[in-house]
Amino acid sequence: MLAAVEQVIARPESSAFTQRNAKLRVPFRVPSVVELKDTAYRASALRGRALLLGTRDSLPHNVGNSLRCASCHLDGGLRRGAMPWVGSFARFPQYRARSGKVDLIEDRINDCFRRSMNGTALAPADRDMRDIVTYFAFLSSGIPVGAETEGQGLVPLQPLKGDPARGAGVFAATCARCHGASGQGTALATPLWGPRSYNVGAGMARISTAASFVYALMPIDRAQRLTAQQAFDVATYVNTRPRPDFPGKVHDWPRGQKPADADYHVLPPTKPQEK
Ligand code: HEC
Ligand code: HEC
Repeated sequence: MLAAVEQVIARPESSAFTQRNAKLRVPFRVPSVVELKDTAYRASALRGRALLLGTRDSLPHNVGNSLRCASCHLDGGLRRGAMPWVGSFARFPQYRARSGKVDLIEDRINDCFRRSMNGTALAPADRDMRDIVTYFAFLSSGIPVGAETEGQGLVPLQPLKGDPARGAGVFAATCARCHGASGQGTALATPLWGPRSYNVGAGMARISTAASFVYALMPIDRAQRLTAQQAFDVATYVNTRPRPDFPGKVHDWPRGQKPADADYHVLPPTKPQEK
């Protein structure tokens, strides 16, 4: 019996859950806060939204850099193709290869606290986490559990080999005016490397993720559109600059499946490999 359960966990793509929901894809819809009727629920959701928009000021003990959640989840997580939070709640619990287990949305939120924000996890049962989860649940209003949402995540680019020297040129010409000549951030935009940036364990530290983000979304004013090659070049340059370490990273991908562009050493898989 237990062995059968393990089998399902080790092969999530064949689980009944995934099969049942594989084809379900729903339109992108941002619910209006006017739809929040119940007073207590509304207060919790709006407080959660405020934490996502003003993360550093609101939760200084949990944030270890100059970012806020909405620095990467643009327009407060409401923009399609910019890793929107619309529909996220409905896609959890979810098996993730990086953790090698089924993660709750609380686990996923704390991943971004510990990695993207170079900070510390929120206590899962405390008010701050509950308010953020309430807001995420609201943003999934009407979206069935397990469904995909149009515009979720980032639009992935075909992988290209980035050249950091060319990337330095793209950075100076296109990014420095907002992110600072040495990537340290300015009043206009956040740091891209150095002690106040995301750490090496963050999703954005992967070149493919950063390239897809930058290609689709940067510069934020779209004054100059980059080619896919330029996006890979600048992402390679940015992600080979120094940034905070993430000591827990050796425990990532405990069942294997480490992506090629996760540029750090992990312990050999201890749990069964996925078949
Ligand atoms: C440095 C950029 C960055 C910052 C800052 C950031 N995130 Fe993320 N976040 C990501 C990336 C990259 C992903 C993975 C997106 C993907 O797989 O398409 C992600 C994914 C997520 C997801 C899962 C979305 C889904 O639908 O599967 C949630 C929830 C989330 N982040 C919440 C947060 C919260 C809460 C904060 C602030 C504590 C935060 N993020 C800060 C980059 C960031
Ligand atoms: C017109 C100003 C501007 C330019 C030019 C610009 N950005 Fe940004 N960038 C922003 C803003 C604003 C944000 C979001 C910050 C926030 O809201 O907290 C951002 C966010 C980011 C993020 C996610 C947050 C972080 O700090 O990790 C990355 C990565 C990024 N930009 C990379 C680039 C790259 C690479 C270029 C050059 C190709 C570039 N940007 C050009 C304004 C700019």
